[in-house]
Amino acid sequence: MSKNNEYKRHPSTLAAQANGWLDPSTNAVIPSIHPSTTYARDSDYELVDGRGYTRDENPTYLQVESLLNKLEGGKEALLFASGMAAATAILLSLKPGDHVVAPSDVYFGLRSWLKKVGIRWGLKIDFVEAGNLGAISESIIHGVTKIVWIETPCNPMCTITDIRAVADITHTAGAKLVVDSTLATPVLTQPLSLGADIVMHSATKYLNGHSDVLAGALITAGDDELWKRISDLRYQNGGVLGPFESWLLLRGIRTLFLRVERSSSTALSIANYFTGNSRLTEVLYPGLKNHKDYKVAAQQMIGGFGGVLSIRIKGGRNAALSVAKSVKIFVPATSLGGVESLIEHRSTVEGLESSVPDDLLRLSVGIEDPNDLIADIDQALSNIQI
Ligand SMILES: Cc1ncc(COP(=O)(O)O)c(C=O)c1O
Repeated sequence: MSKNNEYKRHPSTLAAQANGWLDPSTNAVIPSIHPSTTYARDSDYELVDGRGYTRDENPTYLQVESLLNKLEGGKEALLFASGMAAATAILLSLKPGDHVVAPSDVYFGLRSWLKKVGIRWGLKIDFVEAGNLGAISESIIHGVTKIVWIETPCNPMCTITDIRAVADITHTAGAKLVVDSTLATPVLTQPLSLGADIVMHSATKYLNGHSDVLAGALITAGDDELWKRISDLRYQNGGVLGPFESWLLLRGIRTLFLRVERSSSTALSIANYFTGNSRLTEVLYPGLKNHKDYKVAAQQMIGGFGGVLSIRIKGGRNAALSVAKSVKIFVPATSLGGVESLIEHRSTVEGLESSVPDDLLRLSVGIEDPNDLIADIDQALSNIQI
């Protein structure tokens, strides 16, 4: 139930108040969890509000979907059991023979899926340099390309893609643009307002923000044929998010704006502090004025550049591993978007097929004191032998 309030609220207010729900039966401020898998019919043997079974609908995940839809300015949203389940629901809604264009450094789990499962499914796939508009344009085949997939910011190289420009190119060819906006979150970028057709999130990351839920989300600009197929596929495949995870996710989203603003401002401080450090060859962060995509980032990102940055260590792989082993506050673990800061040697995590330079460490900046984080990297860098 939403409060009957005619004032238009800002996204941060909607997030903080979890859409303004009060529990209809108790007026509790925190929505209940609905674990029931099944729903009784009424005395006319009709479904109440169309709800019969939890795979079709569950009030707990509907609350999250409605909130995410508002935060992204979409038409509809769907939650999935993981970011991968959300991403692959789009791709499995295509037909064998359909063509997909994706960045060569797309999230490595999806790249692997496209190469193994996507190709077996019959999809034709072209990987192009992230953010390169000419390459995207050249790889699109009119009438055959159905999806152009971008990820912005795309990690760990922190590339930014101009969403509006790619949307124009994509739509001219009759294809749909999907944006993996996991790193940007609705706080920093609104892909649908820039022309994207579908926004995808690994909600495991910033949306939940506490490294304790695996979840994915899609939000669409239009209720079109592709969206109907995706929605039907989720129902048929059953990859929905459970009510307990949905409830935790809703709780996480309440603090999304605070967390993302804090992580972004600390990431910028860290990037500025370490730029020019004699033990580094490069600091990669789209908020740095010398970053190759700074101009596009400054145009399409609102209020910050995100909490992920990468540093490249002089001395190569061993030196990078030594920094990852020497940190005391950053946690040496994979993933990103949690309240705790993480550091990872990305090429080790991605394995043999990784194209990430082996001197690179990815930092996911949390909400700790910025000075502690800077001091931690500083002391770890001072330990390396170069
Ligand atoms: C940018 C991005 N997209 C998608 C995914 C996949 O999400 P999940 O791990 O929730 O399946 C990840 C996971 O790391 C990611 O970083």
